[in-house]
Amino acid sequence: MFPLSLILLVSAQLSRSYASKCRSQPGDAAFPSQAQWSALNTSVAGRLIHVVPSAQACRQMNCTEAQWTSGLFRADIPGSMNYYNWEEDYTMSPPALCLQNGTACAQGRVPLYAINATSAAHIQAGVKFASAHNLRVSVKSSGHDYLGRSSQKNSLLLWTQYFQDVTFTESFSIGSKNYGSAVTVGSGVGLKTMYGAALAAGKFIVGGTAATVSAGGGYTQGAGHSAFGPIYGLAADNALEYEIVVANGSLLTVNEFSHPDLFWAVRGGGPGTWGVIISVTFRTYPAFDTTLHTANVVTTTANQTGALLAAHARHVFDWDAQHAGQYFYLYNSPGQNVLELSTLFVNVTANESLALMKPLLDDARALGALVLNETALTAPAMAVVGFADDASGTNGVMGSRLVPATAYQNSPESIGEAYTTLVNAGAEAVLGHILGGKVSANADINSAVTPKWRTAKTHVIVVSHWDDSATVSQIEQIKETLTNDYVPVLAKMTGQSDSGSYINEADVREPNWKVTFYGGNYARLSVVKALYDPSDLFIVSAGVGSERWDADGMCRV
Ligand SMILES: Cc1cc2nc3c(=O)[nH]c(=O)nc-3n(C[C@H](O)[C@H](O)[C@H](O)COP(=O)(O)OP(=O)(O)OC[C@H]3O[C@@H](n4cnc5c(N)ncnc54)[C@H](O)[C@@H]3O)c2cc1C
Ligand SMILES: *[C@@H]1O[C@H](CO)[C@@H](O)[C@H](O)[C@H]1NC(C)=O
Ligand SMILES: *[C@@H]1O[C@H](CO)[C@@H](O)[C@H](O)[C@H]1NC(C)=O
Ligand SMILES: *[C@@H]1O[C@H](CO)[C@@H](O)[C@H](O)[C@H]1NC(C)=O
Ligand SMILES: *[C@@H]1O[C@H](CO)[C@@H](O)[C@H](O)[C@H]1NC(C)=O
Ligand SMILES: *[C@@H]1O[C@H](CO)[C@@H](O)[C@H](O)[C@H]1NC(C)=O
Ligand SMILES: *[C@@H]1O[C@H](CO)[C@@H](O)[C@H](O)[C@H]1NC(C)=O
Ligand SMILES: *[C@@H]1O[C@H](CO)[C@@H](O)[C@H](O)[C@H]1NC(C)=O
Ligand SMILES: *[C@@H]1O[C@H](CO)[C@@H](O)[C@H](O)[C@H]1NC(C)=O
Ligand SMILES: *[C@@H]1O[C@H](CO)[C@@H](O)[C@H](O)[C@H]1NC(C)=O
Repeated sequence: MFPLSLILLVSAQLSRSYASKCRSQPGDAAFPSQAQWSALNTSVAGRLIHVVPSAQACRQMNCTEAQWTSGLFRADIPGSMNYYNWEEDYTMSPPALCLQNGTACAQGRVPLYAINATSAAHIQAGVKFASAHNLRVSVKSSGHDYLGRSSQKNSLLLWTQYFQDVTFTESFSIGSKNYGSAVTVGSGVGLKTMYGAALAAGKFIVGGTAATVSAGGGYTQGAGHSAFGPIYGLAADNALEYEIVVANGSLLTVNEFSHPDLFWAVRGGGPGTWGVIISVTFRTYPAFDTTLHTANVVTTTANQTGALLAAHARHVFDWDAQHAGQYFYLYNSPGQNVLELSTLFVNVTANESLALMKPLLDDARALGALVLNETALTAPAMAVVGFADDASGTNGVMGSRLVPATAYQNSPESIGEAYTTLVNAGAEAVLGHILGGKVSANADINSAVTPKWRTAKTHVIVVSHWDDSATVSQIEQIKETLTNDYVPVLAKMTGQSDSGSYINEADVREPNWKVTFYGGNYARLSVVKALYDPSDLFIVSAGVGSERWDADGMCRV
């Protein structure tokens, strides 16, 4: 005979799984009462806040245009997404919008409540409350997410922007293993703050090119690329430990010895899926100077642009001996394309950088392109990659591919032709950067970073924007063009049938997303997901487990 307690447990689980096909939403009988929200508020020291769309918050605060477009300013607004199209719900009829200069304002995809957390205990209280009441949750730090994963409709937001501690140590140890110099950053620390602290401490930390992206938020969960990747690898490769609140409310210390399965998954297995990161510890390196070389190359026809990018593809290995990083951003406007080159060298003088760039720039001139505004300067690396601010408050989508070195070796002409196709199709920008070097050499690191990073020479992104005058059907057309026309051109450029994309700078509508974002890791990630989040509290678009949920992550399918 089964003990009664077991039978009761089983039947309770059955009835809960029946009742919880959908998350609880306002209007549902099970949605928390005012008294229950108040009790949550008390348990988080009064830090529960109502969330409104950024346009509404800005109306209340009388924002200037400069504030509206500032990533730094928006990071403090709980309802703000930097690409603020992710605050809108275009699927409603009429669409639920809250536009910058509009008159009406709907909540759209903006969470209902947020916990403005300053301690792990606040997050633990929120996670337990969300589990107990079957709520949809959002996890957000900066609101930079290009796939909208940090803003979920009708959700409780666990907001980590104010985890702002930065602590350096000369000797970070786990048990008897000493990793040497390291830094621990709260999951709200933006790159500008992190780099400022590193500069003052005489340290270098692997990070991206932005001001407000949170190193301990979505960045390393996606992989985390950097201009210095060819020397030091991905940011995820440099992460030594995380503090994470998992779905059962426990605060876990996660590293290669403690919860190694979760440590594997959280480095590259996709953001927003594993729990709420409180802090991350990275290796640090002694500070060094970098020489930044920049030049803008102007072309006037799509064919000339294609020829320029074919030349770039032939020269893309020119800087391998120096392990240089490079951003190569193509902007397409009618009658004129500009390729903005920013190349970052180490142990190379400004004059030497001019010589290292000359073969490519000579080829560009030979095909009739104009090379303008060439500069070279040497400065501390942490001062060069840290941006003053990030442009925000616009609408946009993007898609990307990790382009293997073999594609560059085998067929630089095909790469040029892909650019010609994109320019002719009207793609507004194609943003590339160089990988390889240590990113490839780190292939032996045991993490969930999709293996396509390790064989890639570049990562290439195609971007589309719209302004607030676009209609819902025009916006849908822009998204469809990206998914069906532009991204396939990048996929073809790779020469692979199972090509990979960077999950943080990607098209949320990728049709073959399990392969494209996770390579062969999806099955193992699903196992880790089931262990740490068996009830799917943390579900995001194109995230592990999302196949069990509808597009809003609201109801099981
Ligand atoms: C201007 C700009 C420049 C960029 N430059 C680079 C670059 O150089 N290199 C690069 O690799 N990427 C870059 N990115 C992409 C960036 O890595 C991703 O947008 C990243 O997801 C941002 O993380 P976030 O936490 O700041 O953003 P958020 O929007 O707050 O969150 C992003 C994702 O992480 C999750 N998340 C956030 N906080 C937490 C947390 N505390 N615990 C668990 N999950 C969390 C969210 O749920 C969401 O899924 C850039 C983005 C922008 C907007
Ligand atoms: C939470 O409590 C604080 C302090 O009492 C209060 O200011 C705030 O309005 C409350 N939040 C909500 C959502 O009611
Ligand atoms: C907002 O700015 C306008 C124009 O500068 C001004 O007239 C108005 O008083 C301001 N409102 C608030 C609440 O500050
Ligand atoms: C909204 O109004 C401001 C101030 O007039 C203006 O600068 C901004 O461009 C407008 N934004 C849109 C999307 O129209
Ligand atoms: C969130 O908390 C921080 C730190 O206490 C505070 O500075 C900020 O004003 C709060 N933000 C909101 C929107 O309540
Ligand atoms: C929560 O889950 C973690 C990871 O599986 C586990 O180590 C911990 O004991 C669990 N905590 C509770 C209170 O069940
Ligand atoms: C561009 O190149 C293609 C292929 O070489 C050629 O067919 C086409 O005529 C060229 N277009 C222009 C405008 O020169
Ligand atoms: C730069 O030179 C220093 C001193 O010779 C050396 O230690 C360092 O590894 C070099 N860095 C790179 C990226 O080559
Ligand atoms: C750089 O090269 C220019 C021209 O060759 C030369 O005049 C200048 O002195 C060099 N600068 C340095 C710092 O070597
Ligand atoms: C070159 O620099 C000038 C002056 O800063 C600027 O106006 C111009 O737009 C730049 N040209 C290109 C192609 O970037």
